[in-house]
Order: sequence, then structure tokens, then C-alpha cells
Amino acid sequence: MTLAHSVILKIQNISKLHGHFKALNNISIEIKRGEIIGLLGPNGAGKSTLLSIISGASTSTTGTIHLTGEQIQPGNLQLRSRIGLVPQDFAFYEDLTARENLIFFGQLYGLNGTTLANKVNEILEIIGLDEIKNDQYPRFFSGGMKRRLNLGIALVHSPDILMLDEPTVGVDPQSRNRIFEAIKKINTTGTTIIYTTHYMEEAESLCDRIAILDRGKIIAFDTLENLLTLAQSTINFTIKNDRHENFGLLRKNLPSLKESTTPGSYSLTSCKNPTPEIINFLVNGQIEIINLNVDSPNLEKVFLTLTGRHLRD
Ligand SMILES: Nc1ncnc2c1ncn2[C@@H]1O[C@H](COP(=O)(O)OP(=O)(O)O)[C@@H](O)[C@H]1O
Ligand SMILES: [Mg+2]
Repeated sequence: MTLAHSVILKIQNISKLHGHFKALNNISIEIKRGEIIGLLGPNGAGKSTLLSIISGASTSTTGTIHLTGEQIQPGNLQLRSRIGLVPQDFAFYEDLTARENLIFFGQLYGLNGTTLANKVNEILEIIGLDEIKNDQYPRFFSGGMKRRLNLGIALVHSPDILMLDEPTVGVDPQSRNRIFEAIKKINTTGTTIIYTTHYMEEAESLCDRIAILDRGKIIAFDTLENLLTLAQSTINFTIKNDRHENFGLLRKNLPSLKESTTPGSYSLTSCKNPTPEIINFLVNGQIEIINLNVDSPNLEKVFLTLTGRHLRD
């Protein structure tokens, strides 16, 4: 096994109880070095609770977490410092400039001199605050800039794993893209990323693998491509010069095809994307298509299929 594919984080049977309420229910997943992992789930699913336990800031009721073979425990500060957490709330000082904040947190981790200065410059470059903003106070920042500074602070100690807790809540689309760019840049240097969100589009566009969390349980964990096979796609199309034999032929080839009340209009719902098969059939039979649209699967539909509920309330 190459280093690039080695397991960096092994989460085994993690449960977290608040009284009788199970915030996390027997979570077991393995994350490989260099992956971007999405943790997707609705509000209250347990995302923040899991990140807090991984970071070592809080303990689980049962289960263990190993970082490259060593068990994470609250008292093991050296091991915990290999993980960076970008919390949902802002964790910087309003009365220090962006640069001063990074210097302050760098010093807390024992950095100084040119090492610290270089690190701070490197981070300011990654989070993409412009040169004027670097030396301004965060109260002059937009929501997106504050989010990026929050992200920068989690990078000062060069963690092996960077965890981000819903880092785009309340930011505009442009800022969201800049946060995405920063995450991708950080990942190219080998940092493993764990990204929690309740926006399926973010998990779809950013992550190598996605764990879907619902009511404290991981209900699926796979690549986007594999997850999408869990939901169905529907194709709707209308053909010209509808004749009875067209429908007969179509039906023979595609038994689950449904004819709508509009003459010549059909729909087909299937787990396997039926589009190529239908288009081939229509083209080969020289049947003219008037319109055709595909309702493709997405993570929202996957969630609905698995839980019977919507990802967004
Ligand atoms: N200290 C606590 N006491 C009781 N319940 C809690 C506590 N912390 C979190 N919870 C509950 O645990 C569940 C998971 O919370 P959380 O991890 O914050 O979810 P998410 O981050 O996915 O929105 C929620 O139902 C929340 O109300
Ligand atoms: Mg949360």
C-alpha cells in the first residue's frame, strides 16, 4: 500500500450519548491520507459532535479514533495538534488585524522568527485576503473574509488533517468559491480534508468521498458516482408522428416505459440512467424526438431514497 492510500484516520464504533439521546450511533469509517471527505447531513445529524470528538476536544461515550495508529485522547495534545478544526463560530480576535491574529495563534503553537513570518505570509496567500485587508481589523470584513480568516487560523500549525464545520454558512457565492479554492490548494499539498455541510451541491463538487450522516448514523459512505446509483433517474420524452407501432416497439425494448396522457409522450424511471438506451433506440428506429429531458439523480434524491425524508427541512 502506498503512503498516498494509507489510512490516516480510523473511526471505530463511536457513539455519543446525551442522557438517553444518541447524538452519534456507532460510527465507523476510515479516511485515507490526502482525501477530501464530505460529511453531509441535515441540521442536528451529529456533524459538529463528530468533529469535536475527532479533534479531541470532547470525548465519545464508546469507541475509539486512531490517527495513523495512535489513539486520539483529550490529554494527548501533541497528537491532537496534527488536526486543525475550523469551527462554525468565529475563533479570532476582533481587536487584532488578520495578520496579528495569525501571528498570535502561531506563537501559541511555538512558532517564531522567520518560520512564523513565512507561515503567516503563506496562509495569507492561501486564504486570499488582499494586502490591505491583511492589516485591517476583522470588523471591516465581509462574512466570507471572516470565514477565510477563521480557516487560516486552523492552518498555522500545519495540520495533517483539516476539518471544516459548515464553513460557507452565510457567505455569498463568490466567497464560497474562494473558500473552495483555498481548500483545494491546501489539499494539493497533501493535507486530508474533512468538510461538513448540509448543502448537497458542496459535497458533490468538492469531495472525493461523501459520508451521509442522519440522526447520528452513517447511512452511506462512498464516492459521488457510487452514491448516485442509489437514487433513480427519470427521462421524459415526446416523439413525433406517434404511431401505435412506435409505442409497441418502445414498450418491447423498455418494459417499464410509461405512456403519458399526452399522445407521444413517455417517461421512464430507473436506477440505471436510461438515457443512452432510449436515445439509441430512438435514433436507430429513426423516430424523431420533439423534446427530451432527464431528471438526474443527486444527493438530495439519494438522501430521500435512504431515509424517506428531505435533506433540507
Ligand atoms: N450538550 C448536548 N446535550 C444534549 N443534546 C445535544 C448536546 N449537544 C448536541 N446535542 C444534540 O445532538 C444532536 C447533534 O448535534 P450536532 O452535532 O450539533 O448536529 P449538526 O452539527 O449535524 O447540526 C442534535 O440533536 C443536538 O441537539
Ligand atoms: Mg453543526
